[in-house]
Amino acid sequence: MTKASTFDLAPGMILAEDVLNFDRQVILSKGTELTDVLISRIELNGVLSVYIEDQPEEKPENYGPAPQTPRTDVPPPPPGVTAEYAPSRPSYSERVKESQEFKDFKNKFDEASEGFKFKLNEMVDRSVPLDTKELLIEPLNLIERAGSGSNTFDMIHNMRDYDDLTYAHSMNVALLNYVAASWLGWSEEDKETAMLCGLLHDVGKLKISHSILTKPARLDPVEFKHIQKHPIFGYKILKEQGVGEHIQNAALMHHERYDGSGYPLNLSGEAIDRFARLTAISDVYDAMTAARCYRGPLCPFRVIEIFEEDGFEKYDAEFVLTFLSNVGATYVRNACRLSDGREAEIIMLNKEKLSRPVVQCGYDYIDLMKHPELTIEELL
Ligand SMILES: [Fe+2]
Ligand SMILES: [Fe+2]
Repeated sequence: MTKASTFDLAPGMILAEDVLNFDRQVILSKGTELTDVLISRIELNGVLSVYIEDQPEEKPENYGPAPQTPRTDVPPPPPGVTAEYAPSRPSYSERVKESQEFKDFKNKFDEASEGFKFKLNEMVDRSVPLDTKELLIEPLNLIERAGSGSNTFDMIHNMRDYDDLTYAHSMNVALLNYVAASWLGWSEEDKETAMLCGLLHDVGKLKISHSILTKPARLDPVEFKHIQKHPIFGYKILKEQGVGEHIQNAALMHHERYDGSGYPLNLSGEAIDRFARLTAISDVYDAMTAARCYRGPLCPFRVIEIFEEDGFEKYDAEFVLTFLSNVGATYVRNACRLSDGREAEIIMLNKEKLSRPVVQCGYDYIDLMKHPELTIEELL
């Protein structure tokens, strides 16, 4: 067996040992074949490396993306047209990224992230006071540019293909927090506070040595403990700056979990500031959609599935259900590809299982709740 960093995992690999979380509970058993959903679950639990079965030399393809199952439902191309030349529809994600609207959004997003990076470094390195009003200008412009909450959400979801820097991540969490706060019916003032919470939640990472933050893999336990101090570092920076209490608390408590399984203070329930409870969801959502070397961002329904499998009890129930049902609702009437290769249209969400909506496939309606063997693989 080989020890593999979580960053290097790929679908098809087989676990050679059980994977345990920090509470020593088994989250995946030995012998499990990894899928991208399971890899995301390992990451979510903060596990940095796992043992995998050695790769058989003669079958290196086992470790790449799962091979496409041959389609049996698609008629052969007409005579004279080879399958290679048969037109293929670009995926939903590809179409979003090719749109002018997305390209404009992406340019503005990059400018806003650069400006944010500059202001944050000025504050940490040169003690220049933080002007929270000024900090909000660019992200609020982005929200206005994208229009509806669902549209902003869609842009952010596809943004993760491009980079994975702390600043872009913070900007994403800020926008997600703002949209989620709107979905929850919060006041304009609270929505702006939620946005600032997202922007500043990881500010404590600026106090972590660059070599640890950029180390591609295999942090030792001491380094990992050090990274886990970023909420406390962030809280101290923001307290010194005199920013609002919710913003300080979001930095301190965004890794706390509703069921008490988080860090650094092991808080639970309402003892966690509501802005931190919201930031925790946006933070995890953004981390999960990060593109990996073998795929683009995960399909939103697979992200919802991971939240469901990981357990809603870790999050504020009202917040997580509102967040995920709105994410799902964004894609009702959207075309998708099912795991058996068929194309379908998303018709209606199931409240009890948001990752498994009712879809229409030709003249048939398929309730995915009654078909555990089928999943939504991709939006089209
Ligand atoms: Fe964090
Ligand atoms: Fe974060």
